Amino acid sequence: MSRPSAIAIQQSPFVVLVFSIMVEHIENFVSEIAKSIQNGTFVKLSLANYKGSEPHLQKILIRLVETKKGVRLYFLYRSETRDVAKNYDFDLGLGLIATAFDDGFRNGHLFTTAGDLQLDISNKGKTRLNRAKPAFRLTPPLGHDREKAALVDANSFYLKALGITDDTGRIKDKQQDKWRQINKFVEVMASLYNRSELREKRSLSIVDMGCGKGYLTFAAFDYFRNTLGLEAVVTGIDVKSELVDLCNGIARACDFDGLSFVVGRIDDFVVGDTDMLIALHACNTATDEALFKGIKANAGLILAAPCCHQEIRPQITPPAMLKDVLKHGVMLERFAEFITDGLRSLLLERSGYSTKLFEFVSTEHTPKNNMLAATRLGRPRPPEEFQRQIVEIKEQFGIDQHRLETLLGPPD
Ligand SMILES: C[S@@+](CC[C@H](N)C(=O)[O-])C[C@H]1O[C@@H](n2cnc3c(N)ncnc32)[C@H](O)[C@@H]1O
Repeated sequence: MSRPSAIAIQQSPFVVLVFSIMVEHIENFVSEIAKSIQNGTFVKLSLANYKGSEPHLQKILIRLVETKKGVRLYFLYRSETRDVAKNYDFDLGLGLIATAFDDGFRNGHLFTTAGDLQLDISNKGKTRLNRAKPAFRLTPPLGHDREKAALVDANSFYLKALGITDDTGRIKDKQQDKWRQINKFVEVMASLYNRSELREKRSLSIVDMGCGKGYLTFAAFDYFRNTLGLEAVVTGIDVKSELVDLCNGIARACDFDGLSFVVGRIDDFVVGDTDMLIALHACNTATDEALFKGIKANAGLILAAPCCHQEIRPQITPPAMLKDVLKHGVMLERFAEFITDGLRSLLLERSGYSTKLFEFVSTEHTPKNNMLAATRLGRPRPPEEFQRQIVEIKEQFGIDQHRLETLLGPPD
């Protein structure tokens, strides 16, 4: 909504009145925002009902964020095709909010713990300023604590682009399981990260091997870069070029500078310095290849969700005691899975990591639900005690080859 020209104002006392009320309402609205920031009641602000000239712009979502330079106003410019995030100091941010109404926004909604305030501007320039009871009783935490409030923002553009949410930010019915998995993954990753040595770093290099459509790669980048405000560089690798192209397109549309996808095989990929290695549901021994890359890169954290355990099953020769138990295909399959991941965990521990093996989403939502999480130890336990167990297990069940063991070679 453009303000009326000076000539129009001179010609019509009605327009003069409408204009002066509008200016007063906008000034009041902006001063309420400034006041709420000052007295610590500010929760969030949205600018919507956009009628301006930017082709795809829809709304601006504004909240406070803690950055290295102090608390700033975080603007998320949401358009039909992308999200762009910017941080501004208070003076500049408040100035931009004031001019946003000149530039085409017809609605502003301020949420504070003291009360909510809504500014509406009609097509004819009439303004209304409505007050309401506060929708929020608490202000959201800033910076690192914020992760508890919202680990994954359902309104993120990448979720819409990947088909998880619809235009209104609602999780599509068929995507509920994927959504649960993304959230659980970020929750687990955040918790392990917070208890690892990586927490001390301002910049993080992360590789996601066998990233597929990149759901978890995007979520990891968004968490470290946008929620925690770290210098995160995240690379997804997959053999499927069509998925890599799709993900690179979405990363560009989101302005996720630092997130990229590369076509390649896990075993060929040169990881370099990597702080965190992710490999979820990489098929069969691709998981071993990814774990090996993580160990060789001395990654502080390695997260894997193994699937399709095909290598060990044909090698298993059950001891006499279990002969008639493991003659059943389903039992042998589960047993092979148990031995494969058990050996992976021991090999990681032998390589200087502490490990956790756990169910990370319920089997009701996906059958591929075990996670193997490894954290590099400052003072690892001697490899011999793990090696002894590895040798015994292999001997007991007639196992000749385990891909991760072959890749690692004998212990130092
Ligand atoms: C089941 S999807 C999992 C995708 C993603 N990690 C997730 O959990 O949502 C497995 C992906 O790994 C890729 N993949 C399998 N073996 C691979 C290899 N050796 N090198 C690179 N990518 C591989 C496949 O192309 C596929 O996209």
